[in-house]
Amino acid sequence: MKSLIIYHSTYKKNTERIAKIFAKRLDCDLVDISKVSNIDIDHYDLIGFGSGVYKESMSKSLYRLVEVLDLKDKNVFVFSTSGVGMKFYNKPLIRLLKSKGARVRGSFACKGYFKASEFTNIKIFYILGRFSQGHPNQKDFQEAEKFIQAVINSI
Ligand SMILES: Cc1cc2nc3c(=O)[nH]c(=O)nc-3n(C[C@H](O)[C@H](O)[C@H](O)COP(=O)(O)O)c2cc1C
Repeated sequence: MKSLIIYHSTYKKNTERIAKIFAKRLDCDLVDISKVSNIDIDHYDLIGFGSGVYKESMSKSLYRLVEVLDLKDKNVFVFSTSGVGMKFYNKPLIRLLKSKGARVRGSFACKGYFKASEFTNIKIFYILGRFSQGHPNQKDFQEAEKFIQAVINSI
């Protein structure tokens, strides 16, 4: 099975660390979307799309890329890291992927460290920021390993 992971991870490289866990298990190509302009996905059987969450949304450039890809019947999965680490941030991208005919094989999320003072003065983010310290951590990596195995088993 030929796999590809496309990701956007510009803040602390949190998502990149998760992407590397997946890439190692899948023995696959890893593409940083901020470094390429064109991606040929024709020869891949499984594609993972991941990013950090920035202002309530996964990367806009990831959405823009997905919009133009031919994903009919492609096996895909979605992953994100965020301050809260919740899968609900993945949902809009999953909806888009499904609308393009992709087969969504899984959704993964975990916390990713951030420092609220670097981008906001909203109080709640300072509290959330403290809970995100040290993430992604060993437990997150183990969960990522389990997740990618389940994705492989589902195909
Ligand atoms: C500008 C900015 C906005 C963010 N907005 C959110 C948010 O709305 N919700 C959240 O849970 N985390 C938010 N975060 C935290 C990031 O999602 C988290 O640190 C993530 O792991 C960053 O991924 P990256 O290091 O791969 O870029 C934000 C971080 C930045 C820098």
